Amino acid sequence: MSDARPALDSFLEEDRKFPPPKEFADSAHCADDRLHQAADADIEGYWEAWARELDWFEPWTRVLEWTPPHAKWFVGGKLNVAYNCIDRHLDGARRNKAALIWEGEPGDTRTYTYWDLHREVSKFANVLKSLGVEKGDRVAIYLPMVPEAAIAMLACARVGAPHSVVFGGFSPDSLADRINDAEAKLLITADGGFRRGSVIQLKANADEAVERCPSIEHVVVVRRGAGASQLVGAHMHQGRDLWWHELMEEADAHCPAEPMDAEDLLYILYTSGTTGKPKGVVHSTGGYLTQVYATTKLVFDLKEDDVYWCTADVGWVTGHSYIVYGPLANGATCVMYEGAPDWPDRGRFWQLCEKYGVTIFYTAPTAIRAFMRWGESWVERADLSKLRLLGTVGEPINPEAWMWYHEVIGKERCPIVDTWWQTETGAIMITPLPGFTHTRPGTATHPFPGIRATILDNDGNEARGGYLAITHPWPSMLRTIWGDDERYRRTYWSRWEGRGIYFPGDGAKRDPDGYLWILGRVDDVLNVAGHRIGTAEVESALVSHPEVAEAAVVGKHHEVKGQAIAAFVTLKESAEIHDTLVEDLQDHVRDKIGSIAKPEAVIFTAELPKTRSGKIMRRLLKDIAEGRAVGDTTTLADPAVIHRLKEKYEGEEG
Ligand code: WT7
Repeated sequence: MSDARPALDSFLEEDRKFPPPKEFADSAHCADDRLHQAADADIEGYWEAWARELDWFEPWTRVLEWTPPHAKWFVGGKLNVAYNCIDRHLDGARRNKAALIWEGEPGDTRTYTYWDLHREVSKFANVLKSLGVEKGDRVAIYLPMVPEAAIAMLACARVGAPHSVVFGGFSPDSLADRINDAEAKLLITADGGFRRGSVIQLKANADEAVERCPSIEHVVVVRRGAGASQLVGAHMHQGRDLWWHELMEEADAHCPAEPMDAEDLLYILYTSGTTGKPKGVVHSTGGYLTQVYATTKLVFDLKEDDVYWCTADVGWVTGHSYIVYGPLANGATCVMYEGAPDWPDRGRFWQLCEKYGVTIFYTAPTAIRAFMRWGESWVERADLSKLRLLGTVGEPINPEAWMWYHEVIGKERCPIVDTWWQTETGAIMITPLPGFTHTRPGTATHPFPGIRATILDNDGNEARGGYLAITHPWPSMLRTIWGDDERYRRTYWSRWEGRGIYFPGDGAKRDPDGYLWILGRVDDVLNVAGHRIGTAEVESALVSHPEVAEAAVVGKHHEVKGQAIAAFVTLKESAEIHDTLVEDLQDHVRDKIGSIAKPEAVIFTAELPKTRSGKIMRRLLKDIAEGRAVGDTTTLADPAVIHRLKEKYEGEEG
C-alpha cells in the first residue's frame, strides 16, 4: 500500500466534522437514516423500490439471482434506457425543459430540451438502423465533448446496440485495440474538437485506427467545424465515411424504443488493469439504470430546478453515469462543456457556473488542486451564489483541497460529497448523503444505502486497515469482462476465494468514528490526474520502442495530478544514446497510448532491481522515484543494483 502515504497522514490527524447546513437538510431528499435502515432490513426490497421509479415495459419476476460471481438483477424485466432518459419526461412540464446546455470551448452554445433530444436521438437511432446496426451490435464512439456524443449513446441505447465510448485523448492504436476487442461495426467520430484553442485531429486518428479494424463497415463523422475556420476539412473515404448532418437530414424522427431485457448489455467501457491489455467492462441495462438513477437523485440531492454540471469527459465512466444516464433518467438540466478549464483564461469554469446558474458542481480532486494553484482571484470574479452542492470523484481528495473547495467555491454553505466508485461499479458506492451525513475532509464517509462495503485483511477477516471489499452484489455492478470471463473471476472475485466478495483493488482504513478512508490502489494501477493507467500498459509501450530492452514504470507523488509516471528504462546494447532520447520515449508512449500516459520522468539504468526469480521490484523503484529511503532489499538477486540506481537518480535529479 505504498500509495497510501499522503492520505494516511491526514487520516491520523483529521477529526473535523461538517454537519449538513440546516437549510440544506430541511429540504433534502434524505435527511435521516431511514434509507440505510430500510436497505439493512431488506436489501432486495430496497433496490426494488428504486427500480419502480423507472418505467418498465414488463415487470421483473425476481429481484436478484446471485450465482457468484455472476448476478442478475430484475430478472425478466423489460425496459429501455433511452425511453427512461427521454420519452417518459415528455408528457408534462419537462417536455420543453432544457436537458442539455452545451458550450463549446470557443464559446458557441447549443441547448437541447427533452423534446429536442427525443427528436435527435430518434433520428440518429434510425440512422443507426439504416447503416445495418441491429440489437446487440457494438458501436464505437470517439468524439469530443459535443452534444452528439450523448445523442449517439442514447441512440445506441434506443436500438439496443451496446456502445463503446473511447476517450478522445486516446491514440489511434488504443482506439483500434478497443474497436477490435469489441468487434464494433460502426465508428462515430468528428472532424475535430477544441482543446486549449487548438484543434484535436480526431478524424485523422480515426482513419489511422480504422485501417487496422476489419469489423468497421462505416464511419459517421460529426462536423464540429460549423463556424470554426481552424478546422481543416476532413478527408472522407468514399463509401465508408458519412457525414452525421447529411444522414440526419433524411432520417425519420419516429423510432420506437426497443424493449430490452434488464440484463441486456448497455455498454462496454475499457479500463486499465494490471496487464498490458485494457479490460472491456460490461454494464447491463436494468440494474445499471436503477443505481445511477438512485445515486444521482440522492447523492446530488437533485431537484426539478437544479442546474447540474459534471465536468468529466463522456469518455470515462463518470461521463456515462453522471453526465448522461443518471441525470437524464432524473429529468435534470445538465451543463456540458467541451474544452479546458483554463481557456481562454483560468476563470472559465466559474464563468460557466455564473452564466448558467449552476447549482450542483461535480469535479475531480486534480482539478481542485489546479484551481488552488491558480488562486482565488479567478473564482472571486464570478457570482457563484447559485451553487448549493459540490462533489468530487476520481481519487482520494487531500484535506487541504477539500477545505479550499469548501471555503472558496462553496463559501462554507455547500455540502461536499466525496464519492468513491469505479468503472466496474458503474455507480457511486461510498459517499455522504448531503442532507444527512456529517462530512469529514478526505473521506468518502459511508456506503450508500443498499451497498455493503467493509475492510478485510488478506485472510478475509474484518480489519481497521486493509483492503476495501464489497460483500453483497449491487445493481450496477459489472457483469463480466468482454470476451474474458476468466479474467473477470480472477481480477475481482478471487482474493477471498469462494466467498462471493468483490475486490475493487483499493486499500482502505476506518477511522475511530467509523469513516471509511480510501487510500489508493494496491495493485499495479496508477491514478494520474484521476485517470487510471496500468503500469504494464506503459511498460509495453516503452518496450515497443526499438532502442528499449526493458522498462519498469511506477507512480510518484505529484502536487496537482496526484501521481505522475516515472519510467526506469534499460536500453538495448546496440542502442544509440542521443540528446533527445528521453523526449523520443515520452512521445512514443504518447503516440502508443495517449497524452495521459506520457511519463514525466525517464531514467536510464543499466539494470533493474529483480528478485532471484526475475520479478522486477517496483516497490524499490518507487522508493527511489519518491526520494525515500529504499526499503527491504533482501530478496533482490543483486542488492547492489538498487544502490547504484539510487545514486544515479539522485545525481540526475540534482
Ligand atoms: C479508482 C477508479 C469513478 C469514476 C472515476 C474513476 C479511485 C475514485 C475515489 C474517491 C478515493 C477514489 C480508486 C478507484 N477513486 N474515486 N472518491 N476517493 N479514491 O474511475 O478510472 O475506474 O478509477 O479511482 O482508486 O479504484 P476509474
